[in-house]
Amino acid sequence: MSRIAYVNGRLVPHRNARIHIEDRGNQFADAVYEVWGVRDGALMDFEGHLTRLARSLGELHIRPPMSDAALSAVVSRMVEINHIRNGLIYLQISRGQARRDHVFPPANTRPGIMITAKALNAQKAEARAQKGIAVITRPDIRWGRRDIKSVSLLPNVLAKQAAAEAGAGECWLVDPDGFVTEASSSNAWIVTKDDVLVTRAASQDILNGITRRTLFALAENAGLKTEERAFTVAEAQSAREAFVTSASAFVTPVVEIDGKPVGNGHPGSFSLQLRATYVATAKERARKPVRRQSVWLVAPRGERLVN
Ligand code: PDD
Repeated sequence: MSRIAYVNGRLVPHRNARIHIEDRGNQFADAVYEVWGVRDGALMDFEGHLTRLARSLGELHIRPPMSDAALSAVVSRMVEINHIRNGLIYLQISRGQARRDHVFPPANTRPGIMITAKALNAQKAEARAQKGIAVITRPDIRWGRRDIKSVSLLPNVLAKQAAAEAGAGECWLVDPDGFVTEASSSNAWIVTKDDVLVTRAASQDILNGITRRTLFALAENAGLKTEERAFTVAEAQSAREAFVTSASAFVTPVVEIDGKPVGNGHPGSFSLQLRATYVATAKERARKPVRRQSVWLVAPRGERLVN
């Protein structure tokens, strides 16, 4: 089945989806993005990601390309036309296309928007989580506004590549004082020997993950103890459990850090239980694809469609 992408108001076959060479996302990484997990056809934590998108745009003074209602409808439509049961929706908004100049383009420059949909094998992801992943650590060399979900991801790419080359599933990033900030594309957590869930406090040092926020709420509902504070690599290595959270990994247990086993070297019961709870309750926090929407979409050949 051929994939459909959404590019600047048009639905186009994925293989033909193009943006202009002078899109500022391309030349300056002057763009932000969001990723939604899709589970059983529903967009997980839909509102949370939409709210963070608005914040990222606001922090960078990029004009939203459309209303939240229209954006929601397009994102839902992408799930539907790509027949995504389990997978991801990727959305990127740039400051638009303009003659290359570091300074912002004129205020009436239209922001660029693209959305892609990707199906994933839920069984494979589940098997990976049940096995747990190894992580390595690297210095965190990113810029000072990691709270903005910008597409400026080169340090993250290098960290993830280092992990892949080491046969690990993720790379944890460490600040100059030896404390873990987060991972290359997920938030880092530990469970202490006293059964406290610990993750770094939200600040400009980390991306405040939507999965992270949801997990806090779920943990508190379940009466678990939580703490937002920094922890070192050594503390994580001697913790009871460790795991990462993200829209794509949900809750994935970490069983080894820089070659040292965490706990007994197998996924911990807290991590697996939290994952199960997160997935089981996802549907309550999700947006179901809506069949009838009042947005205009442009079909591949340019004719307008109402869905
Ligand atoms: N990554 N930290 C970083 C650096 C991330 O890139 C991500 C998400 C997270 C977790 O955020 P959330 O729970 O909102 O997905 C934390 C996405 C999935 C990505 O880049 O593909």
